[in-house]
Amino acid sequence: MDYSYFKTEVAKRRRPMTTRELTKMAYSAPKSTVSLAEGMPNEETFPFTEISVKLYDGTSFTLDENELGAALQYVPTQGYPPLLQALREFQRRAHAPPLWESRDIVVVSGSQDGLSKTLEAIIGTGDPILVPDPLYPGVEVVVTPHKAEIIGIPQDDDGPIPKVIRDILRERMISGEKMPKIMYINATATNPTGIIIPLERRKEIYRIACEYNFLILDDDPYHFMHFDKEEPKSFLSLDTEGRVIRLDSFSKVISSGIRVGFMTAAAPLVASIELHLQSSHLHAPALSQVILYKLMKIWGYEGMMEHFIRLRHFYKERRDVISALARKHLNGLAEFNVPKGGFFLWIKIPGVNNSWKIMQRGVKEGVIMAPGAAFMTDPSKPCNTIRASFSKASYEDMNLAMERLAELIRAEQAENYIENLDT
Ligand SMILES: Cc1ncc(COP(=O)(O)O)c(C=O)c1O
Repeated sequence: MDYSYFKTEVAKRRRPMTTRELTKMAYSAPKSTVSLAEGMPNEETFPFTEISVKLYDGTSFTLDENELGAALQYVPTQGYPPLLQALREFQRRAHAPPLWESRDIVVVSGSQDGLSKTLEAIIGTGDPILVPDPLYPGVEVVVTPHKAEIIGIPQDDDGPIPKVIRDILRERMISGEKMPKIMYINATATNPTGIIIPLERRKEIYRIACEYNFLILDDDPYHFMHFDKEEPKSFLSLDTEGRVIRLDSFSKVISSGIRVGFMTAAAPLVASIELHLQSSHLHAPALSQVILYKLMKIWGYEGMMEHFIRLRHFYKERRDVISALARKHLNGLAEFNVPKGGFFLWIKIPGVNNSWKIMQRGVKEGVIMAPGAAFMTDPSKPCNTIRASFSKASYEDMNLAMERLAELIRAEQAENYIENLDT
């Protein structure tokens, strides 16, 4: 595939920074090499002499001398090499991606960092991008300043509707309009709708991507937080042409503050993102990377999976509780689908035009949820949805929140009724 077709002129003009390349060389050079090349501070001057971590199962680990040195120091932009190796092995096992030898991984500071760098490498001024509507708002804030044309694809209970994607692309092609070079997707336990795109729908979207030559950016931070029996088959595992850019994040499954995620994509795309990282934050936090490497090494693949299964039980129970409470309090007032993963309940309120108004009232009445407009491709349009998170609130608070939401909806409906009588 010709990856230069997908890159912006800015991305094409990026050049490697020599000192960063030297850091990479220093890491892989034989021990006997004397290096006076890098501009690193001397770790002996740092105040930290030991870093130990206690885990929830009662075990603990301490970084050894080399690990501590790496954790406190600059590391290669692509990532702390032992972590990169562990991630490569993990990805191979988790997704068995076709064309593995032609792919690479780069460590980023969470999915948001990965998606913004990717989109900035691909979306030039005024370029079109395909997105599901509604979607995670972290995309809009990246592409709007580039005056991107956001093409929202309506969704049903299985995600973006393939026929609509096809119709839009066919029409654009016939009328000679600019064709999108990328589609953003959040395939598993989608934020905000909580759906999982089923395998057949994934395959169909992938087929369209091949037909119309666009990349798929699968931002999949909830991949291991689904409530299905089977692991969803990722877009990466279907990617026979090298057009999927997969973003994983440790934010939801290990820690959000650790700020580490990783991108798996065709090597030329990874190289382009690496150059962007060189020109911005140099590399994702080394301390976080070393701690993650230790954890992955100690737990192994099976240990990681066991942890993910524990997470799924934890959030599934919460999902069941909030769904039962929503059924109890919002019966006849609102509609929702039981989320298939993640931690959001997407609530539709028929008969209400603007959920912002409900939430403004809610602030005074002691309940806050996210108004649906925040997730729409056009946030200025009023909409009747609300996103409620079930990840952290106590069950008592969830109950109170649903009770208060019901009161707010009744008050809004009463006000609408009076307004309609007046007009
Ligand atoms: C779909 C999606 N993508 C990206 C992010 C950002 O995650 P990270 O902490 O990995 O940057 C979030 C966080 O809520 C999200 O829901």
